[in-house]
Amino acid sequence: MVVSANVRKIADARKEVDSLNARASSADALMEGLTVVLNKHMLKYNWVGFYLLEVDADPPALVLGHYQGAMTPHTRISLHQGICGAAASSGKTVVVDDVSKDNRYLACSIETKSEIVVPIFVRGKVVGEFDIDSHFLAAFTPEDRELVEYCAGLVGKRLEKS
Ligand code: SME
Repeated sequence: MVVSANVRKIADARKEVDSLNARASSADALMEGLTVVLNKHMLKYNWVGFYLLEVDADPPALVLGHYQGAMTPHTRISLHQGICGAAASSGKTVVVDDVSKDNRYLACSIETKSEIVVPIFVRGKVVGEFDIDSHFLAAFTPEDRELVEYCAGLVGKRLEKS
Protein backbone atom coordinates (compact mmCIF):
# COMPACT_ATOMS: atom_id res chain seq x y z
CA MET A 1 0.00 0.00 0.00
CA VAL A 2 1.26 3.49 -0.84
CA VAL A 3 1.27 5.79 2.15
CA SER A 4 1.12 9.45 1.12
CA ALA A 5 3.80 11.88 2.26
CA ASN A 6 1.10 13.82 4.11
CA VAL A 7 -0.03 10.74 6.04
CA ARG A 8 3.61 10.00 6.97
CA LYS A 9 4.14 13.58 8.15
CA ILE A 10 0.96 13.40 10.20
CA ALA A 11 2.13 10.16 11.84
CA ASP A 12 5.48 11.81 12.75
CA ALA A 13 3.72 14.90 14.08
CA ARG A 14 1.40 12.74 16.16
CA LYS A 15 4.38 11.01 17.83
CA GLU A 16 5.83 14.42 18.73
CA VAL A 17 2.45 15.55 20.00
CA ASP A 18 2.16 12.50 22.28
CA SER A 19 5.67 13.03 23.61
CA LEU A 20 4.95 16.72 24.24
CA ASN A 21 1.70 15.83 26.00
CA ALA A 22 3.56 13.43 28.29
CA ARG A 23 6.08 16.08 29.37
CA ALA A 24 4.06 19.35 29.28
CA SER A 25 3.54 20.54 32.84
CA SER A 26 0.36 22.56 32.20
CA ALA A 27 -2.36 23.24 29.64
CA ASP A 28 -0.58 26.48 28.80
CA ALA A 29 2.73 24.67 28.13
CA LEU A 30 0.87 22.08 26.06
CA MET A 31 -0.77 24.77 23.89
CA GLU A 32 2.51 26.59 23.39
CA GLY A 33 4.29 23.35 22.49
CA LEU A 34 1.55 22.26 20.08
CA THR A 35 1.90 25.48 18.07
CA VAL A 36 5.65 24.82 17.77
CA VAL A 37 5.36 21.09 16.93
CA LEU A 38 2.67 21.49 14.26
CA ASN A 39 4.31 24.55 12.71
CA LYS A 40 7.61 22.67 12.51
CA HIS A 41 6.37 19.28 11.27
CA MET A 42 3.53 20.30 9.01
CA LEU A 43 5.13 22.61 6.45
CA LYS A 44 1.78 23.57 4.95
CA TYR A 45 0.54 24.84 8.34
CA ASN A 46 1.67 28.45 8.05
CA TRP A 47 -0.14 29.98 11.05
CA VAL A 48 -0.90 27.82 14.07
CA GLY A 49 -2.58 29.32 17.12
CA PHE A 50 -5.06 29.15 19.96
CA TYR A 51 -7.96 31.39 20.87
CA LEU A 52 -9.47 31.09 24.35
CA LEU A 53 -13.02 32.10 25.13
CA GLU A 54 -13.45 34.92 27.62
CA VAL A 55 -16.95 34.12 28.81
CA ASP A 56 -17.15 36.98 31.32
CA ALA A 57 -16.45 39.64 28.69
CA ASP A 58 -19.44 41.58 27.39
CA PRO A 59 -19.93 40.39 24.69
CA PRO A 60 -17.96 37.13 25.12
CA ALA A 61 -14.84 37.07 22.93
CA LEU A 62 -12.18 34.70 21.62
CA VAL A 63 -8.83 35.99 22.81
CA LEU A 64 -5.58 35.17 21.00
CA GLY A 65 -3.25 32.88 22.94
CA HIS A 66 -0.04 31.14 21.88
CA TYR A 67 0.68 31.13 18.17
CA GLN A 68 3.39 30.62 15.56
CA GLY A 69 3.35 32.58 12.31
CA ALA A 70 2.78 36.15 11.26
CA MET A 71 1.29 38.67 13.67
CA THR A 72 -2.47 38.87 13.32
CA PRO A 73 -4.68 41.93 13.80
CA HIS A 74 -7.38 39.60 15.17
CA THR A 75 -6.44 39.43 18.82
CA ARG A 76 -10.11 39.47 20.00
CA ILE A 77 -12.87 37.94 17.90
CA SER A 78 -16.53 37.99 18.86
CA LEU A 79 -18.65 34.87 18.50
CA HIS A 80 -20.51 36.15 15.45
CA GLN A 81 -17.32 37.10 13.54
CA GLY A 82 -15.08 35.09 11.27
CA ILE A 83 -14.49 31.39 10.80
CA CYS A 84 -13.31 31.43 14.41
CA GLY A 85 -16.64 32.78 15.67
CA ALA A 86 -18.52 30.22 13.54
CA ALA A 87 -16.56 27.28 14.99
CA ALA A 88 -16.91 28.47 18.59
CA SER A 89 -20.61 29.30 18.38
CA SER A 90 -21.56 26.07 16.58
CA GLY A 91 -19.19 23.83 18.56
CA LYS A 92 -18.18 22.22 15.25
CA THR A 93 -14.93 22.00 13.32
CA VAL A 94 -14.93 24.35 10.32
CA VAL A 95 -12.70 23.55 7.32
CA VAL A 96 -12.55 26.18 4.57
CA ASP A 97 -10.80 25.02 1.38
CA ASP A 98 -10.75 28.48 -0.20
CA VAL A 99 -11.07 31.42 2.18
CA SER A 100 -11.66 33.84 -0.72
CA LYS A 101 -15.02 32.14 -1.29
CA ASP A 102 -16.19 32.29 2.34
CA ASN A 103 -17.64 35.64 3.34
CA ARG A 104 -17.26 34.85 7.06
CA TYR A 105 -13.47 34.88 6.67
CA LEU A 106 -11.47 37.51 8.59
CA ALA A 107 -8.16 38.01 6.81
CA CYS A 108 -5.06 37.44 8.88
CA SER A 109 -2.52 37.38 6.03
CA ILE A 110 -3.02 37.93 2.30
CA GLU A 111 -1.16 34.67 1.72
CA THR A 112 -3.74 32.53 3.53
CA LYS A 113 -5.71 30.28 1.18
CA SER A 114 -7.35 27.71 3.46
CA GLU A 115 -8.13 27.36 7.16
CA ILE A 116 -9.28 24.88 9.81
CA VAL A 117 -10.73 25.84 13.19
CA VAL A 118 -11.42 23.16 15.82
CA PRO A 119 -13.31 23.96 19.03
CA ILE A 120 -11.87 22.92 22.40
CA PHE A 121 -14.34 21.56 24.97
CA VAL A 122 -14.27 21.32 28.73
CA ARG A 123 -17.16 19.36 30.24
CA GLY A 124 -19.16 19.75 27.03
CA LYS A 125 -18.71 23.52 26.74
CA VAL A 126 -16.58 25.37 24.18
CA VAL A 127 -13.68 27.09 25.98
CA GLY A 128 -11.50 27.95 22.99
CA GLU A 129 -10.25 26.71 19.68
CA PHE A 130 -7.25 25.61 17.68
CA ASP A 131 -6.89 27.62 14.45
CA ILE A 132 -4.56 26.79 11.55
CA ASP A 133 -4.08 28.69 8.28
CA SER A 134 -2.32 27.50 5.14
CA HIS A 135 -0.86 29.28 2.13
CA PHE A 136 -2.24 26.38 0.04
CA LEU A 137 -5.78 25.78 -1.18
CA ALA A 138 -7.61 22.85 0.46
CA ALA A 139 -4.62 22.08 2.67
CA PHE A 140 -6.66 20.27 5.33
CA THR A 141 -7.47 16.68 4.40
CA PRO A 142 -9.57 14.38 6.63
CA GLU A 143 -6.26 13.12 8.13
CA ASP A 144 -5.18 16.70 8.92
CA ARG A 145 -8.54 17.32 10.52
CA GLU A 146 -8.12 14.21 12.66
CA LEU A 147 -4.68 15.41 13.83
CA VAL A 148 -5.91 18.91 14.71
CA GLU A 149 -9.00 17.51 16.48
CA TYR A 150 -6.75 15.11 18.40
CA CYS A 151 -4.61 18.05 19.58
CA ALA A 152 -7.66 20.10 20.55
CA GLY A 153 -8.95 17.09 22.50
CA LEU A 154 -5.70 16.80 24.46
CA VAL A 155 -5.90 20.50 25.39
CA GLY A 156 -9.52 20.11 26.50
CA LYS A 157 -8.60 17.15 28.73
CA ARG A 158 -5.70 19.11 30.22
CA LEU A 159 -7.83 22.20 30.87
CA GLU A 160 -10.47 20.01 32.50
CA LYS A 161 -7.90 18.90 35.09
CA SER A 162 -6.64 22.42 35.84
N1 SME B 1 -9.22 33.84 9.81
C1 SME B 1 -9.81 33.84 11.12
C2 SME B 1 -9.22 34.95 11.99
C3 SME B 1 -8.00 34.54 12.74
S1 SME B 1 -6.57 34.57 11.83
O1 SME B 1 -6.69 33.52 10.82
C4 SME B 1 -5.29 34.21 12.74
C5 SME B 1 -11.32 33.97 11.01
O2 SME B 1 -11.84 34.12 9.92
O3 SME B 1 -11.99 33.91 12.04
